[in-house]
Amino acid sequence: CGIVGIVGSRSVAPLLVDALKRLEYRGYDSAGIATLREGRLDRRRAQGKLVALEECLAQDPLEGTTGIGHTRWATHGVPSVGNAHPHFAAGVAVVHNGIIENFAALKAELVDEGVVFETQTDTEVVARLLGARLAAGDRPETAMRTVLARLEGAYALAVVFEDLPDTIFGARNGPPLAIGYGKQEMYLGSDAIALAPFTDDVAYLEDGDWTIVTREGAKIHAADGRPVERKRKRSAGAHFVADKGNHRHFMEKEIHEQPEVIAHTLSHYVDFSAGCTREGISTIAFDRIERLTVSACGTAYIAGLVGKYLFERFARLPVDVDTASEFRYREPPLSPAGAALFISQSGETADTLASLRYCRSEGLASEALVNVGDSSIAREADGFLPTLAGPEIGVASTKAFTCQIAVLAALALSAAVRRGTITRKEETRLVRTLSEVPRLMRDTLAASEADIRSLAQEISHYRHALYLGRGTSFPLALEGALKLKEISYIHAEGYAAGELKHGPIALIDETMPVVVIAPYDHVFSKTISNMQEVAARGGRIILITDRQGAAAATTLETMRTILLPDTDPLVTPLIFALPLQLMAYHTAVFMGTDVDQPRNLAKSVTVE
Ligand code: G6P
Repeated sequence: CGIVGIVGSRSVAPLLVDALKRLEYRGYDSAGIATLREGRLDRRRAQGKLVALEECLAQDPLEGTTGIGHTRWATHGVPSVGNAHPHFAAGVAVVHNGIIENFAALKAELVDEGVVFETQTDTEVVARLLGARLAAGDRPETAMRTVLARLEGAYALAVVFEDLPDTIFGARNGPPLAIGYGKQEMYLGSDAIALAPFTDDVAYLEDGDWTIVTREGAKIHAADGRPVERKRKRSAGAHFVADKGNHRHFMEKEIHEQPEVIAHTLSHYVDFSAGCTREGISTIAFDRIERLTVSACGTAYIAGLVGKYLFERFARLPVDVDTASEFRYREPPLSPAGAALFISQSGETADTLASLRYCRSEGLASEALVNVGDSSIAREADGFLPTLAGPEIGVASTKAFTCQIAVLAALALSAAVRRGTITRKEETRLVRTLSEVPRLMRDTLAASEADIRSLAQEISHYRHALYLGRGTSFPLALEGALKLKEISYIHAEGYAAGELKHGPIALIDETMPVVVIAPYDHVFSKTISNMQEVAARGGRIILITDRQGAAAATTLETMRTILLPDTDPLVTPLIFALPLQLMAYHTAVFMGTDVDQPRNLAKSVTVE
């Protein structure tokens, strides 16, 4: 969810909606705002995208110079007007991002006291607790302090009290919350981008902090009540413009931006003219560590899996890759001779952040591979490796994914040189290979898109799809399947091609397209044997291969073959990711789904 708060001297409703538009990537199943006017709180809420709230406000405007807003990704309670924030209790309005884990116990207690609840949300309990404290005679500040002390779980909160004009309270424990400083106008927001049209002067609250924001400024308190200062800085978000250009969707634009952003990212890590990786790009002592532990979620996790193959092959460095939600609770024993890497587009994913904190508490050196420089993960890790993909708006990650892989490839190369597993000469050859990636990407997009569009039309008639690959093409199979299911809602699974015979082969018949990712590499002939097993059972094969592969697979009967350029194994995943993205994108377009904001998903997930 995304939250925003504004206290100023002009009418804040349009400003709140404007900020919420920039927070919609955090959830979009319902939205609402509340304002305070002449000592009275009022709200407008709507189910669905922000346009629904805008329509509601057009019919029934809200006045007031102090207000809070929310865009929701449902955790407790279905998406509906009733469950949309802000939540009210007598004299108070609350918006919340996170999960109040002890809400059931708190609710039961209030219900016993005769309090009546109107929603299924965990957030309402915060409003009701505050309302109860006010009814008991507490001043807002005391009520806030008392209630915060009772909450367990993760929250960013913005609260307005009817009896306290021109004031918003904020609190953070987990999900981010930024204070924005303006001229006689002050803001709270889930991120700096939300506040960018108003100010680029921001300070982030730390966990346990709570704040009282008025037009004149913000007073911040740490969890123990002591007043604290949090560093103000200029945010880069101000320059961000969400613009699709000539493209129909952000996802399409972001797919086509890849040649450019990959070039930008790679040149940060690689000195192309000198033919080597740059010195000091990472804080990790790759020449000394015995193991690298990678933790991430979703597509970033899959990028980590690709990285494992690259690091193990080129730098002979053992790598563990874990889904962060598993890693954090498994609390694996960590060798002090290792280092940890956290991969995240947003830098705010709750599970990845918790994994980072676990590793830090165990004394392990940590580094963050993140796209948002002032995010929590980027700030808390010992080292920060930027992916310079630029803002990614489409919920299904594309350019951030390939930029993550590009950095991992450069890092694997740098680690290989430092570990003595490749020679300088070999490094120069591989750097040249990296330098060709933007051109190969551009050629691949241009050459394959029309073909893939017509293939996508066929795929849109199926209900299931299987993706197979070996080596780095195995994580790509996972990513291909993930992309297709995320945006087209066709059920898809990715498998290691060698695992086909251990289960998924039972699903093969003429209703199952099988996408095979098979560059001509050291496992190519193995994958093709697996494909013969599919063909023998009537499966419909879509083969993604390169020129050498196509020449070697002439006996394989396919429904379609997508031909890509021949590439070095270091960069193969960067090129082979493209047809998978295009296939998912065009299939979704044919199916008429909401490509940039697919149902039930959110771009940044700050709850577990
Ligand atoms: C969400 C997004 C995915 C993303 C994952 C991890 O599920 O929909 O596209 O891969 O979160 O996000 P992160 O920001 O940590 O990369």
